Amino acid sequence: MNDMNISLFNDYLIKQQKQFIDPKLNESMLYSLKAGGKRIRPLLIFYTLDLFGIDRTKGYDYAAAIEMIHTYSLIHDDLPSMDDDDYRRGKLTNHKVYGEATAILAGDALLTDSFGVIANSKEYSDGIKINLISLLSKRAGSNGMVGGQMLDMNSEDKCLTEYEMKNVHAHKTGDLITACIIGAGYIANADVKTIEKLNNIGDNIGLMFQIKDDLLDVEGDFESLGKPVGSDISNHKSTYVSIHGINKAKEILDQIYQHTIELIDDIQKNAGLKELVTYIVNRNN
Ligand code: IPE
Ligand code: IPE
Ligand code: MG
Ligand code: MG
Ligand code: MG
Repeated sequence: MNDMNISLFNDYLIKQQKQFIDPKLNESMLYSLKAGGKRIRPLLIFYTLDLFGIDRTKGYDYAAAIEMIHTYSLIHDDLPSMDDDDYRRGKLTNHKVYGEATAILAGDALLTDSFGVIANSKEYSDGIKINLISLLSKRAGSNGMVGGQMLDMNSEDKCLTEYEMKNVHAHKTGDLITACIIGAGYIANADVKTIEKLNNIGDNIGLMFQIKDDLLDVEGDFESLGKPVGSDISNHKSTYVSIHGINKAKEILDQIYQHTIELIDDIQKNAGLKELVTYIVNRNN
């Protein structure tokens, strides 16, 4: 997705990283943040704000916090004790460059600092800040992304049912994605009913996103992905592809895609968010 806003946002994100008391920690955090990535989560925030006619820059602080949390989750996900991967975003993984201990601390620091970015924001009222912090704590923590990572780890060497698989995806990937969309709704002061609709859209996009990630782990190539293919197979992970096979996984992905477009149409017929969703299912990285 070639979006002008991303380069502006990237500069903003890097500016949020102040000088730290230890230069190596500083360097390793910036290494992973600057390595790129598609910035899908920030884009989800910006396109959801568009639905309400709110300027995208209003979402920068929240998007910076989310991208810091996402980047921390990737640094930890790649560790030898987790997926044990050597490449991420086209570069050596953080622990390969800085060592495991620093990589763990860089992840810890990105996570903790992310809450400060919201708390210190000049863009949001105190009420919105509390809503965003509470939302992120719930969706990224033990009952959200981290809980999902645990379920994913427990699923190794097992064959999950579709229901169990959906639950793993909903937490390990879906929760942070849903937090982007609901959070943008909070920033736009959306009413409770609209927040419910955004929640539903977010859950569907999250599921789609991880099914596509599972497909790319089998069908993608290292050059475009910037991360190794075959990681799920070598770690004996349960995925939509391992349970259903490639064709059925694609069929399920398409069904969820059609449904998500209908849900977005229900809020606004010509929403740019639909283009972003189309990009998510068709991407090659
Ligand atoms: C990868 O996320 C991890 C998953 C949750 C599947 P992304 O595919 O968004 O990774 P980047 O940010 O583009 O590197
Ligand atoms: C990771 O899922 C989800 C996270 C919360 C980091 P994966 O392990 O499938 O992500 P990739 O394929 O390594 O990016
Ligand atoms: Mg993993
Ligand atoms: Mg992984
Ligand atoms: Mg994967």
